[in-house]
Amino acid sequence: MKKFLLIIIACFSFQFGSYAVEGMWIPSLIDMFHSDMETYGINLSAEEIYSTNQASLKDAIVQFNGGCTAELVSDKGLLLTNHHCGFSAIQSHSSLENDYLQHGFWSKNHSEELPCTGMRVTFVKEIRDVTEAIMVGDADGINDRIKAMEGENTKGSLLAKIKSFNQGNQYYMLITEDFNDIRLVGAPPSAIGKFGGDTDNWLWPRHTGDFSVFRIYADSKNESAQYSADNVPYKPIKSLPISLKPKNVGDFAMVYGFPGSTFQHTASGKLDFYMNEERPARIEMRQKIIDLMSPAMNANDQIRIQYASKQARIANAWKKWIGQIGGLKETHAMDKKKGFEEEYMAKAAEKTEWKTKYFGVINELNELQKENAKYEFARSLFIEYFYVGPEFMNYALSFANLANNYEKLEAEGTLQEELDNLMRKQKGFFKNYNKALDQDIFNALTPLYLSYVDADLLPENLANTWQRNGYKIYEKSMLLNQEKLEASLTKFSKKTVKKILKDPAYLYALTLYRAYAAKVAPGYGAYAEKEEDLMKRYVEGKLAMFPKRKIWADANSTLRIAYGKVDGSSPRDGMQYNHYTTIDGIMQKYDPENPDFQLTARFIDLYKKSDWGDYAQDDELWVCFTASNHTTGGNSGSPMIDADGNLMGINFDRSWESTMSDFMFDESRCRNIAVDIRYVLWVIDKYGGASHLIEEMKFVK
Ligand code: ARG
Ligand code: GLU
Repeated sequence: MKKFLLIIIACFSFQFGSYAVEGMWIPSLIDMFHSDMETYGINLSAEEIYSTNQASLKDAIVQFNGGCTAELVSDKGLLLTNHHCGFSAIQSHSSLENDYLQHGFWSKNHSEELPCTGMRVTFVKEIRDVTEAIMVGDADGINDRIKAMEGENTKGSLLAKIKSFNQGNQYYMLITEDFNDIRLVGAPPSAIGKFGGDTDNWLWPRHTGDFSVFRIYADSKNESAQYSADNVPYKPIKSLPISLKPKNVGDFAMVYGFPGSTFQHTASGKLDFYMNEERPARIEMRQKIIDLMSPAMNANDQIRIQYASKQARIANAWKKWIGQIGGLKETHAMDKKKGFEEEYMAKAAEKTEWKTKYFGVINELNELQKENAKYEFARSLFIEYFYVGPEFMNYALSFANLANNYEKLEAEGTLQEELDNLMRKQKGFFKNYNKALDQDIFNALTPLYLSYVDADLLPENLANTWQRNGYKIYEKSMLLNQEKLEASLTKFSKKTVKKILKDPAYLYALTLYRAYAAKVAPGYGAYAEKEEDLMKRYVEGKLAMFPKRKIWADANSTLRIAYGKVDGSSPRDGMQYNHYTTIDGIMQKYDPENPDFQLTARFIDLYKKSDWGDYAQDDELWVCFTASNHTTGGNSGSPMIDADGNLMGINFDRSWESTMSDFMFDESRCRNIAVDIRYVLWVIDKYGGASHLIEEMKFVK
């Protein structure tokens, strides 16, 4: 009998794909989903997960610099997040002499920790449902009511922000507190923190040690403060103990963090537009940029450092979109969408009240999409061209205020301030700018942009201007000549203004921007507003007509909980993904010829020694593992928490087959990827030699 049971257990443990839970849940509604979490194995009470009365998990989690997530792991304000989340901070402290991207960085004591100018972390103090107060009364008054309530609740260092959930059917107020003195404490070299690079990005099996270490500083009263040399490590209300326990398939796992955006309610018309028009064009634009940027970076160390962060950002979305379209096609997402839309309409036909309100809404959405696709398309490509492509445009336009308003600035006495701003701006710009590369990108992208966007939505004669005068931008622009620009800003006079107004880079950017504002923005704006109204009604219908379905609110950069289990997957017929990878896989992938798969001599040495300390499981050092948590961009750096509230890993990615989950979650294939906390500790301890950091943390064995 015992043997029989063991066989059954063994069979189940290889049966991947039966554990996934769709959804990113609002922590303050914990009572709604806590019992379900219990069936997945959580041992914590609702209060221990989210509470406004006592310290709870939420107090150990911060939004990291507006985009990612990070977690507190010591009572001295020590923070863990991803390497790619700390990337621009690591990069900004790097130079050819102190190349922390290449060699890593480990501070030996507090005084060596590096202040990160402009960086902030955000704690969530409370999430309050204010739907009734906001929605009662006329719809036109909503914005005023939001403003008033935010004003009343913003006090001292606490900021109140009201956000719409479920497409405007619900409103929640988030009371948050920012800390602004954040310092870089440690980072592995890219050969660990970005091992696998863009080749492995969004893929499983994965071997990236994607983590970095920061610290929050506070004033002497332990309160939020701007940077000061006198600040001291912050003592948090709560920090996460770290689990050194073995992990197994089926173990409870939750991700607690700040997912950015998801699009589960997208109507079929728009999904079709994304899959077949908009995303393919954006992918092609980015492909051109990457094809120029990557070889330039590999050939030149300075360019490598200058463009590392930009390239990673551009390539990240580019690759995700390719994965999303592939996954949506493979799983017949369009058919499923259309199937649900029919079900929705059939349901709406059941009651007169529903029929008047909801029956037509899908057709209206899909019609609207057809009419306005060209505006949305032009807008998306404008973003790719103006903000993602050649960098001079967005930069040149930042001189518009000085050029157009200098008399006013002078009268107001703020002229010098503006000049100082621009001086700072240009310094930052040139630190990471290579003109020749920018020109190549400009020349490659412009014809593509011209071929894609309807001529009536572009500046008149753009093709001509580009062909005749494009080169002048790079040869003649004062804004792109740092020496001349600095001289001109330092000895500012009316002449400077005249020069800017005639500057070829400025003029090109201005023409483009004006054409967008006149020809695309109004059409798009009108459409977006109508779409918002229709989407509100559509989702209202879902909530009203399908009350038994657990509908979760799309991610909107607010704190959420996703729960599931440690799990592998079998994403395609005949294929099975194991749920973890080990350090042996790093050695297998090691390729000195390939910039994405380099290792340092120190790493290879340590590998040969096989000294895994307390960090191994059955003599293997795990590197990454997967779980069935529903996550998205913004969840990077989020703690992966076990059934008892201990940190088991840091979330950083999804597998290729999961990227579609922003539009449609599929439980058989969607898995998130975390770096195992034991690998993080091994790197800090054995590789970085930073055992003083390990000593700050609390462990559970
Ligand atoms: N795909 C992950 C995320 O969306 C990691 C990105 C950073 N890594 C990279 N190779 N670009 O952010
Ligand atoms: N790497 C993503 C981020 O930066 C998380 C992965 C995902 O999109 O799920 O937030």
